[in-house]
Amino acid sequence: MSESPTIAQKSPFAVNVTAGQTYWWCACGKSKNQPFCDGTHRGSSFSPVEYKADQTATVYLCGCKHTGKRPLCDGTHRKM
Ligand code: FES
Ligand code: FES
Repeated sequence: MSESPTIAQKSPFAVNVTAGQTYWWCACGKSKNQPFCDGTHRGSSFSPVEYKADQTATVYLCGCKHTGKRPLCDGTHRKM
């Protein structure tokens, strides 16, 4: 049985990432430091998803937490 994640917001977070850096996307939706994990998931069935930037760019990380392409927004939020 899987819990449903909390919708942090119904739109993506635009994040400036740096090539070579690793980021941890909050999958549970409960972090206070969206879109990144702050450890709040502990004790739940969720764990953060690693995102390694291969270039310095702006990326759109899913805020609704229901994307099919974690951690990136795939447009699923538009159906909410
Ligand atoms: Fe949400 Fe860690 S706080 S996955
Ligand atoms: Fe979740 Fe776009 S914000 S799919």
